[in-house]
Amino acid sequence: MPTAILDIQDLSFIFDDGYIGLNRISLSIRQGEFIILAGKNGSGKTTFLRHLNGLLRPTSGRVRVNGKEISTHLIETRKTVGMVFQDPDTQMVGDTVFDEVAFGPENLKQPRALINEKVSRVLKALNLFHLKDRHPSTLSGGEKRKTAIAGILVMDPKVIVFDEPFSNLDYPGILQVLSTLMDLHRAGQTLIIATHDIEPIVFEAGRMIIMENGSVMEDGAPLDLVPCLESYGVREPCFSKFGLQPRPWQK
Ligand SMILES: Nc1ncnc2c1ncn2[C@@H]1O[C@H](COP(=O)(O)OP(=O)(O)OP(=O)(O)O)[C@@H](O)[C@H]1O
Ligand SMILES: [Mg+2]
Repeated sequence: MPTAILDIQDLSFIFDDGYIGLNRISLSIRQGEFIILAGKNGSGKTTFLRHLNGLLRPTSGRVRVNGKEISTHLIETRKTVGMVFQDPDTQMVGDTVFDEVAFGPENLKQPRALINEKVSRVLKALNLFHLKDRHPSTLSGGEKRKTAIAGILVMDPKVIVFDEPFSNLDYPGILQVLSTLMDLHRAGQTLIIATHDIEPIVFEAGRMIIMENGSVMEDGAPLDLVPCLESYGVREPCFSKFGLQPRPWQK
């Protein structure tokens, strides 16, 4: 039985204006799990994810990474849990796509040759290598998103949290990100993916958590929960809705 890499106990979060963002969430996430986090706009997905690497602190309850309280082990937590934000612009700091992706490893003072090798490998996997000398501000929305993903992948965190990784991506872009996600999953990485687009990953993921009003409403096998998605304001995948034979997007 794999050990819990994230342990969330009775987590609640109240915004400054009194709005209850998260309401008593308890979850245990084991190493190597591939989890879909679903729920309509405003259900609390981003608020929840921002607690997993200490960007937000619980109003009550606790979040532990590898058994250690996040608030007292922030640096260690951020090395373990990488986060690709919903809005990629908030993450861009480099003058070129290459520098942007190299930023994290450079901060860790890794050897130049190793950085160059890792950055090139990740850029090629996401079909971004031809853009390596471009300024990030000149990229399209989808290219920015993939660059932000590359910047996290290059750090090789044990847990990768993706907030809407498919938004703004065209079909080939979705397939590139999907194939990267599947490689990561097969390599044993823990993946938590908040998305409104369930269909591309419903076969690969082993668990789906559905949120509403800051609470966890469902937690189970994705294919079992697919029929109830629309009652939580999330689009049900076509194969399920129309009674078709399910087919994975990728082999
Ligand atoms: N700073 C804030 N102050 C008060 N309420 C906030 C604040 N930030 C977010 N909220 C509210 O918290 C709720 C949860 O927001 P959150 O961004 O976590 O939702 P989400 O599930 O990620 O939605 P989406 O699918 O649109 O990304 C929303 O109703 C939002 O308006
Ligand atoms: Mg969100």
